[in-house]
Amino acid sequence: MIEAMWVEKYRPDKINEISGQKEVVERLAGYLKSRNLPNMLFAGPPGTGKTTAAIALAKELFGKNWKANFLELNASDERGIDVVRGKIKSFARTQAIGGDFKIIFLDEADALTKDAQHAMRRTMEMFTNTCRFILSCNYSGKIIEPIQSRCALFRFRPLEKEEIESKIRQIAKGEKLDITSDGMEAVLYVCEGDLRKAINLLQSASAFGEKIDEKLIYKVVAKAGPEDIREILETALGGDFMKARERLRELIITYGMSGEDVVEQFHKEVFKLKIPEDAKVKLADIIGEYDFRLVEGSNELIQLEALLAQFVSIGRGAK
Ligand SMILES: Nc1ncnc2c1ncn2[C@@H]1O[C@H](COP(=O)(O)OP(=O)(O)OP(=O)(O)O)[C@@H](O)[C@H]1O
Ligand SMILES: [Mg+2]
Repeated sequence: MIEAMWVEKYRPDKINEISGQKEVVERLAGYLKSRNLPNMLFAGPPGTGKTTAAIALAKELFGKNWKANFLELNASDERGIDVVRGKIKSFARTQAIGGDFKIIFLDEADALTKDAQHAMRRTMEMFTNTCRFILSCNYSGKIIEPIQSRCALFRFRPLEKEEIESKIRQIAKGEKLDITSDGMEAVLYVCEGDLRKAINLLQSASAFGEKIDEKLIYKVVAKAGPEDIREILETALGGDFMKARERLRELIITYGMSGEDVVEQFHKEVFKLKIPEDAKVKLADIIGEYDFRLVEGSNELIQLEALLAQFVSIGRGAK
């Protein structure tokens, strides 16, 4: 049997069970009380509760019948805006069951072109009496003004560490896992405020056993831990180029990391190093340059080694 995805199993059914997003939750709870919704725009990074909030609204408003009154569409999945509009039209044609309106949830609305968004806006207008639209996007800036002005905007934020930690503890308890404190730190470090990522990580790690520690987490994400990265940086800044280069090669092989992953992690760690401010400025500048070169498709290993060489010379200058 394929095990259920924990992101679904532990997805909250009620608005006030959503982790964090205090302001969003308060405003949505107000709409629930009045049993009326405006058209809405949910904006924020992945895995922070946008789809969850939309489904929870439908469940709380419509109860058992929620699925009949809720249509979820993915703007970027579909074969174009005409297909999306066709689906909306046929869904909107029938009356809501046990409610005054139906909810149409359009995920990844920011993937629509401007023209498609204008077409969407006309469709929204056509069904204002019978439907409420919830548009979800990562960047509200990519949504055209005429849609923004017709929607109440809700900003979802990356979740705080404590919020993720308490959800992960709840799941670990439910699944009888023993998560060590360094294991928890590792989850929080890797997920960067994305609760979906944190939950998926925990589930993948659980396949290896009940004890979840730091080592296991980094094995599962195929990412070097912050300590590994820091060690390389410090070795290079300390002037030992050959050793830094060797450690870097080991990491790339062990974890199958891409050049861009490595640069991203360098970027994350560099500001935590105990080195003078102006050295950090130089390093940040150089990291930006190499990030660009990698995106442009240069040879990864050559570029990463050249980056380390730069670290070595900056390390010499800082002494
Ligand atoms: N704020 C939250 N409270 C509780 N659970 C959450 C929250 N955010 C995310 N989750 C968990 O992560 C999973 C994914 O979240 P969700 O689908 O709501 O993300 P999203 O914001 O819609 O992301 P995307 O932009 O990728 O569509 C959910 O099934 C749920 O288990
Ligand atoms: Mg979503």
